[in-house]
Amino acid sequence: MRKIVPATEENIKLGAKLLAEGKLVAFPTETVYGLGAVFCLESAVARIFEAKRRPFFDPLIVHVASKKDVSYLWQKVPPRVNLLLERFWPGPLTLVLPKKETVPDIVTAGLDTVAVRMPAHPVALKLIEYCGFPVAAPSANLFGHVSPTRAEDVEEDLGDEVDLILDGGITSVGVESTIILFEEEKFFLLRPGGVPVELIEEVIGEKVVTRKNLPARTLAPGMLKTHYAPRVPLYIFEGEAEELKKADFEKGIALLSPRPLSFSGDAVFVLSENGDLREVAFRLFAALRKLERERAEKALAIPVPEVGLGRAIMDRLRKASRGTARVVGGKLVFVEAEK
Ligand code: TXA
Ligand code: MG
Repeated sequence: MRKIVPATEENIKLGAKLLAEGKLVAFPTETVYGLGAVFCLESAVARIFEAKRRPFFDPLIVHVASKKDVSYLWQKVPPRVNLLLERFWPGPLTLVLPKKETVPDIVTAGLDTVAVRMPAHPVALKLIEYCGFPVAAPSANLFGHVSPTRAEDVEEDLGDEVDLILDGGITSVGVESTIILFEEEKFFLLRPGGVPVELIEEVIGEKVVTRKNLPARTLAPGMLKTHYAPRVPLYIFEGEAEELKKADFEKGIALLSPRPLSFSGDAVFVLSENGDLREVAFRLFAALRKLERERAEKALAIPVPEVGLGRAIMDRLRKASRGTARVVGGKLVFVEAEK
């Protein structure tokens, strides 16, 4: 049987049936593709970790098809958290709250909280609804690799492990969900993502607490410094993009730019024609995987401002990068970061 199938009504029903039997089904969400298993079938969830070669200490996000289904997972929904659910669900926002006993330890890596989100993708929502249970799903890539934005990316990483891949085309957001922990009446940012922090702050009427002020035990493995490494060494460019010359981007070095430059070429990837951060996010992971397929030797990324979606984009670029690069005396110099 072919693993990749179009996400037709019939195939979504097949996927739901396989999930209920304890199989692994990859499916599109609006952020990236997920590798799903029914959250309460422990052996199926264990297979997710094996398939991804993911350490068991890295907890999973549980996906629901309706807001009321959080009652199976969370002890309660504080009113201020509810404001966020009302505004951003379905959508790329994950919330972490104290779990119910029904959520197995394997899902949460033994933590007493569980991360939950309601994806804004018709295929994901139908699959979860037809299967009848919330679905635990990490991004459908090998651990440490770039997250998949296309069904083919899932097949490349997990083709032998997954039972079915529902193809819903390219994912529209392109970076993973924003993860917020609510604890002691405060909101903590665990991972910047598809919902800009500024919008969250507008809704809750206060600042979200960011990384440097996080309690150490909440540092989840998704927050490790190197996590999204592409197989091509990537460096973040420091300096004025116009200092770069076309000549630098031949012979194996590629360039990722968030906007058009004064030069172009086969190895220059313009992620957006007008610097639109949504477009940059949407194309970023696909561009990283393309660099791998084309066997670029090295790649250089021009940074974006750290506002709105730019925060998630820079987080992923830093995690994917080996260091920085700059132009010194007309020459490109690469500096490995200490990690
Ligand atoms: O957009 C997304 O969030 C995608 C799609 C498939 O929904 N999923 C995703 O899952 O990115 P994953 O497994 O690649 O990243 C989940 C991260 C973990 O690495 C961890 O950092 C955090 O979520 N996490 C999960 N449960 C947590 C918990 N109880 N406490 C703190 N962090 C948690
Ligand atoms: Mg992931």
